Amino acid sequence: MHSAAISRLIAALPQPVLLIDMAGFVQRANPPALELFGAHIVDAQIRAHLRQPDVTAMLERVLAGAADGNATFNASAGSRETVWRVMARHADAQTIVLSLGDISDIEAAEAQRRDFVANVSHELRSPLTVLSGFIETLQGPAGDDPVARSEFLGIMAEQSARMTGLVADLLSLSRVEAAEKIRPRTPVSIDMVLKATLAALRPQTDAAQVQITYAVAADLPDIPGDYDQLVQVFHNLIENGLKYGSGGGRLDISAQQLAAMPGFDGPVLRVSIRDFGEGIDPVHIPRLTERFYRVDKARSRDSGGTGLGLAIVKHILSRHRGRLSIRSTQGEGAAFDALLPCN
Ligand SMILES: Nc1ncnc2c1ncn2[C@@H]1O[C@H](COP(=O)(O)OP(=O)(O)O)[C@@H](O)[C@H]1O
Ligand SMILES: [Mg+2]
Repeated sequence: MHSAAISRLIAALPQPVLLIDMAGFVQRANPPALELFGAHIVDAQIRAHLRQPDVTAMLERVLAGAADGNATFNASAGSRETVWRVMARHADAQTIVLSLGDISDIEAAEAQRRDFVANVSHELRSPLTVLSGFIETLQGPAGDDPVARSEFLGIMAEQSARMTGLVADLLSLSRVEAAEKIRPRTPVSIDMVLKATLAALRPQTDAAQVQITYAVAADLPDIPGDYDQLVQVFHNLIENGLKYGSGGGRLDISAQQLAAMPGFDGPVLRVSIRDFGEGIDPVHIPRLTERFYRVDKARSRDSGGTGLGLAIVKHILSRHRGRLSIRSTQGEGAAFDALLPCN
C-alpha cells in the first residue's frame, strides 16, 4: 500500500494509532496520537515516550518477537488524568501497530465501586463490633445481672436496627439505580404524596416540636411519577429538616408550578422543604448527595442516619427526569427543592 494511503487509513481511525518499526522508532502517528503525545513523537523512539514499567515491559516483549501485547498507560493531559489501554500487534515483518483505547471512565467506575464497597464494609463493621462485644459480655458474669442485661440488650437492639436501616437503604438505592433509565409515568398527586409522608412522619414531627406550614394547592396538576418513590423522596427531605433543622422551630412545605426552568422542556413542579435551623456550610452543599456523605457523622448516626438518604433522593428525581436544588444560608436554615417535570 502507498505511504499516503496508509496515512489516510490510520487518520480515519478515531483512537490514537502509532506505527513503529522493529527498532522501536515511530514511523507514523494519526491525529489523535499526535494530540496525545505531541508532534515530536514522529521519528522518536517509542520507549522514550511510554516510560511506564508495564508498557515498557510489554513493548520489549513485542519488539523481541512476541505476537501481541497489552498494557495500561496513565497520561496526564493538562489537569485531567487519563488511562489508556495500549495494544500492540505485528502488522508485517517490519511494522508494529500500537493502538490506544481510552479506559478512563471504566477505571473511574471501578474506583467508585471499590470506594463504595469499602464504605459499606466500614459502616457495617462498627455496629457489628458493638454487637459482638456485648454478646461476649453477656456470655460472661454480666449475663446474670438483670439490670446490665436489659441495658445491653437495648444497645444491641439499637445497633441491629442501624444495620437493618443501612441494608434497607442500600437495597433501595440499588433498585432505583437499576430502573433509572425507565421513566415512571403514572399520574401522581403531589398533595397526596406529601400528606401521606407527613402522616407517616407524625411521631417525628410531634417529637421535634416544629411548626409545619403546608402551602400546597390541592388543584396542582398530577405529574408523571412513581408514588412510592416520591414518598421516599419527601420522607427523607422532611425527616432531614426535622433532624438537622428543627432548631428553627419551623418547617415550610410548599409547591408551585413554574412555566419554565433552565434544563427543562416544559412546565416544572417545584416542591420546597424549607427549615430554619442552622443551615449548611456552602463547602458541603455540592457533596451532600454523594453516598455516605454527612456533615457530622456522629450526629447523623445518633439519629439513625446512613448518609444514603440524599443519594436515594437524587437518583429517584433523576429517574423522574427531575433534579434536586439545595440552597442554604448558614444560621438561617436550608431549602431543598425537588424539581419535577409536569409532563
Ligand atoms: N435540612 C438540613 N439541614 C442541615 N443539614 C442537612 C439537612 N439535610 C441534610 N443535611 C446534611 O446532609 C447529610 C446527608 O443527608 P442524608 O443523605 O439524608 O443522610 P442522613 O440523614 O442519613 O445522614 C446529613 O448527614 C446532614 O449533615
Ligand atoms: Mg436523611
